[in-house]
Amino acid sequence: MNIFRVTAIALTALIAGAGPGAADDYPSRAITMIVPFAAGGPTDVVARIMAEGMRHSLGQQVIIENVTGAAGSIAVGKAARAAPDGYTLSIGHWSTHVVNGAIYSLPYDLLTDLAPVSLLVSNPQLIVANPKVPAADVKSLVEWIKANPGKVSAGTAGAGSASHIGGIYFQNFSKTDFLFVPYRGTGPAMQDLISGQLQIMLDQSSNSLPQVQAKQIKAYAVTSKTRLSVAPDIPTVDEAGLPGFYISVWHGLWVPKDTPKPIVDKLAVAVRAALADPATQKRLLELGQEIPPVNQQNPAALAAFQKAEIEKWWPLIKAANIKLD
Ligand code: MLT
Repeated sequence: MNIFRVTAIALTALIAGAGPGAADDYPSRAITMIVPFAAGGPTDVVARIMAEGMRHSLGQQVIIENVTGAAGSIAVGKAARAAPDGYTLSIGHWSTHVVNGAIYSLPYDLLTDLAPVSLLVSNPQLIVANPKVPAADVKSLVEWIKANPGKVSAGTAGAGSASHIGGIYFQNFSKTDFLFVPYRGTGPAMQDLISGQLQIMLDQSSNSLPQVQAKQIKAYAVTSKTRLSVAPDIPTVDEAGLPGFYISVWHGLWVPKDTPKPIVDKLAVAVRAALADPATQKRLLELGQEIPPVNQQNPAALAAFQKAEIEKWWPLIKAANIKLD
């Protein structure tokens, strides 16, 4: 190998921080966490809680950068292209780091262009509606939608987002049809659901629960086998007449590929410290989030889970032939 190539490799390694003691002084400055949806939505809320929790053990600020569009795939692309130095993090979830790969022709590979750091939290969706929707339960909601063709709109965070896929599966389960209206996140969509611009939404519990509790919207069911401990009066989809309509929006944290292992390990330690912190746990649990066991809070567990989710969902999503209109 000639001297120029050796120098180039050494320089790359140095820049990528893969040199000896790469993590010794990491982090020496603020870290950016790229959030793939609009501020105020469920991903943004999880990101800000985790950023605050991780700050303590990292000793540096974790700054949130909301990058929206194309159901989060623009943000994930920006993270994948970032320098592998530990100063750019990609937070996302089931739709951004699994579903998008089956819907968009992405300029990056979800499994090889990002390196996993850790699973974070997961929450089910709620079937929610504006209070003026004259249906008291799922059965009457389905009948009302069918009786009002062309008059029912559901908010989504874009084609392929969790709220969109949840909406499509709800249509399949209930044999209903209604319009999907895309937003830059279900944070902004929620404002239009409350105002009555939208009638329904399949929304992550973390986003809808505060509005349900404030009686700004109403919930018909939770897309999980058991009721939420923080919202015991919301029936499960099994109890509500949609047996097996389970959706869990799990979150994870990634970095660009080739980020040095000592840096990835430091970030995983910071995630575990945040998820073990009682104040962080309280904020997450009251939003209906579930914290994974500690032995799942590591890069290998996220890598295995994400791969299994891709193998499970890509054939289903592709068969659903979802349009990017
Ligand atoms: C958001 O943060 O807006 C959500 O992840 C979007 C969704 O649940 O579809």
